[in-house]
Amino acid sequence: MKILLVTSSARGHALAEALHRSPQKPEIISVCANNNPGIRAIASQMHVQNLMDFESIVRIVKESTPDLAVIGPDDPIGGGLADVLEELGLPTVAPKKSLARIEASKGFARNLMEKHGIKASPKFRIFERQANSQRDLLEEEKEMYTFIDQELQGNYVVKYDALKGGKGVKVSGEHLMSVDDGMQYALECLNECGRVVIEEKLIGVEFSLLSFVSGKQVVDMPAVQDHKRAFDGDTGSNTGGMGTYTDANHALPFLTAADVKRASEINRQTADALLRECGEGYKGILYGGFIAVKDGIRVIEYNARFGDPEALNILPLLSSDFVTVCQAITTGELTEDLVRFEKKATVCKYIVPKSYPDKKDEKGMEVIFPSDLPDNARLYYGDVSADEQGRLHLGGSRTAGIVGIGNSIAEAEKVAQEICSKVQGPIRFRSDIGTADLIQKRSQMMEDIRSVSS
Ligand code: AMP
Ligand code: GLY
Repeated sequence: MKILLVTSSARGHALAEALHRSPQKPEIISVCANNNPGIRAIASQMHVQNLMDFESIVRIVKESTPDLAVIGPDDPIGGGLADVLEELGLPTVAPKKSLARIEASKGFARNLMEKHGIKASPKFRIFERQANSQRDLLEEEKEMYTFIDQELQGNYVVKYDALKGGKGVKVSGEHLMSVDDGMQYALECLNECGRVVIEEKLIGVEFSLLSFVSGKQVVDMPAVQDHKRAFDGDTGSNTGGMGTYTDANHALPFLTAADVKRASEINRQTADALLRECGEGYKGILYGGFIAVKDGIRVIEYNARFGDPEALNILPLLSSDFVTVCQAITTGELTEDLVRFEKKATVCKYIVPKSYPDKKDEKGMEVIFPSDLPDNARLYYGDVSADEQGRLHLGGSRTAGIVGIGNSIAEAEKVAQEICSKVQGPIRFRSDIGTADLIQKRSQMMEDIRSVSS
């Protein structure tokens, strides 16, 4: 069994490890964006290259004849790598380009949910640059202004309608301080990609529910909460995610059972809508980004892949064979029985360079990780590369995800925190992720939101 793994980052290392521990003992052929030491230690072939160079990936497939492919990141998925690989006869765990629009186009995702009666979106409008006379453009601007200012009363979010490395969304009160700021960014999006989504700003607590999907077959993973802000107390710039936790019951402390059930139902409805809309089934990971609000659950966004760090929490808990799950996704034989997760909690904290995400001042500097990890911890390498002597050097992005596993979130947090505090180098991490204090704050916020009478 040979598996082509197209990936990068700590999510890639976690995927490689989950495939590697399969009783089917697959050989892993890795195509990776950097010289990731974790993946290098596992893979039998390591091709370091641009993941958007599909021609080169096709050459590798022809030479190494894998039996299955797994694609990690959004860019090659959104760019249609699954279509290219399937064309070569290679069963692939990732949706084809038309289905991956659920992530690549926020406008497509909102329209799909509306068209198929999935009631989980905030108020939204999509503006398109199709007007060709100066007068039409002015009309469009006026409509946009009225929507932001009057219908949304200045509480709005502006979304660039294409992949932008997680940096295309700007929120009023955080990045955009007035209606004019919103207009300016919306026009910038229109000029750059021809379409912009403007929507109501939702107030609530965010969480992720990822599902394995093969057409109509949908099997959920444990719910996860990510922390996007750079510093403790949810302050500073937005990042790719500074850390995450899951609970032993696979739900989250601030959610009700009905909340998790509703998110699960929305993922099922969305998989079904994709099948009806695109005429073929979605095969891969469907990542629902949700927010629990006053009166239920709404969708913030969909992703067509594993989350990073979410994969770092979820994959170590998978006690059934990941390769079998991947095979079932491609053959349409996915069942609940194939997917088993340990009833444990996890806390992941990302080690990042000190100046991340605003600058890359520490790039190239050495970082040293503790050499012995306990059984209840994992270390997944991200943007870090090894030199010839085996020393590790920081890249500019997130360095490594450290995961603690325990019977409770508190136990898992202790494990992760202890290892993080032993990492040496110009790095930092968030000490508050997974602490009782932070979780209490989330629960309190949820309680406050839901107790206010409308
Ligand atoms: P996205 O790239 O769509 O995940 O958006 C990035 C972040 O923007 C999300 O994690 C949310 O914190 C925020 N966001 C996006 N859409 C909304 C919304 N409608 N209301 C409130 N916050 C939002
Ligand atoms: N954790 C956020 C993401 O993977 O998009």
